[in-house]
Amino acid sequence: MSILVTGGAGYIGSHTCVELLNEGYDVVVLDNLSNSSEKSLERVEELTGKKVTFYKGDILDRDILNEIFQKEKIESCIHFAGLKAVGESVAKPWEYYNNNITGTLTLVDVMRQYNCKNIIFSSSATIYGDPAQIPITEECPKGQCTNPYGWTKSMLEQMLIDIQKADNEWNVIILRYFNPIGAHKSGRIGENPNGIPNNLMPYVTQVAVGKLESLGVFGNDYDTPDGTGVRDYIHVVDLARGHVKALKKIDENAELCIYNLGTGHGYSVLDIVKNFEEANNIKIPYVIKNRRPGDIATCYCDPSKAKNEMGWVAEYGIKEMCEDAWRWQSNNPNGYDE
Ligand code: NAD
Ligand code: UFG
Repeated sequence: MSILVTGGAGYIGSHTCVELLNEGYDVVVLDNLSNSSEKSLERVEELTGKKVTFYKGDILDRDILNEIFQKEKIESCIHFAGLKAVGESVAKPWEYYNNNITGTLTLVDVMRQYNCKNIIFSSSATIYGDPAQIPITEECPKGQCTNPYGWTKSMLEQMLIDIQKADNEWNVIILRYFNPIGAHKSGRIGENPNGIPNNLMPYVTQVAVGKLESLGVFGNDYDTPDGTGVRDYIHVVDLARGHVKALKKIDENAELCIYNLGTGHGYSVLDIVKNFEEANNIKIPYVIKNRRPGDIATCYCDPSKAKNEMGWVAEYGIKEMCEDAWRWQSNNPNGYDE
């Protein structure tokens, strides 16, 4: 039996493929490569010494989904495929709703036709909006999202919850990621953003490698210890391992489970700059800029539910996150482009 990994060539997907293959799972990837490169999968194979069955195609395309479910014995699906750029989603809401929502509904429809009713879904801390409490537990109410990307995650959670309620043969595990950073220890796979990065860590590593001049710090007047935004950064390999734990939870007949995946520690933007500088002995010049619209002051989670119910805890600390992010960037200054 195999695991279907949609979006498996992407940042979190490629790291999850490594962990799945190392745990002995067979892996089938469906990815349209709209935000990734097939090279990531070649490197996954190189790192694990195992094969990935790759289908280049779209989750909106029923024909390719039918082909996969006919040819492969799919037991569960880990569903990463989706568009994720917050700013772009404001400019292109139709594209985001169509890709993320219609795409997921199509996938789920084909899954049930083939009686495959196990899905692990990539959700996000963004669904909490401006959180009602810190640290954020899963019971914390969902909030107002500030962009269409966030709404797709919030709506998809509700859709999957309703589908599971109506048919309890489904096992739905919703994983709410906090801020994934870092890369595989080998430095062979990592985050490969298109153009100028929107997210903090890839911006920092591109300053470090000399592609960008200085980091803009978006606001230093938040109600936080140093005035800059506080987030729960989690090593992408820890996050990937959370998916392996979630598959094991499905084996125990999970039905519906929702877990925060974070470390439970908050670091400010300036903490990240300082930790990166110390871990890698590189200076990161920065300038304070205006707040970025839609940002909140503080966001970190209580990850104890994932520990108690799945036996999952994040093992890597901020130093390793900074070292591994830099190893990937310095070994691959242009990402997967030679
Ligand atoms: P990514 O862009 O690196 O990976 C997503 C992959 O999905 C890409 O390889 C892309 O080519 C593919 N894809 C997109 N639309 C597709 C479609 N219609 N059909 C087939 N493939 C398609 O992003 P990531 O950081 O690895 O994120 C993975 C998932 O986790 C996404 O759903 C994202 O929204 C979610 N998530 C990410 C973060 C984060 O900060 N990285 C935080 C919370 C949630
Ligand atoms: N920041 C800067 N300068 C930058 C980039 C970011 O100061 O150039 C700051 C932000 O203002 C924020 C912090 O760094 O305080 C983290 O910002 P990111 O853009 O890296 O991450 P966000 O917390 O804004 O959002 C990310 C993903 C969302 C996801 C969320 C929670 O982009 O999709 O984590 O998982 F929903």
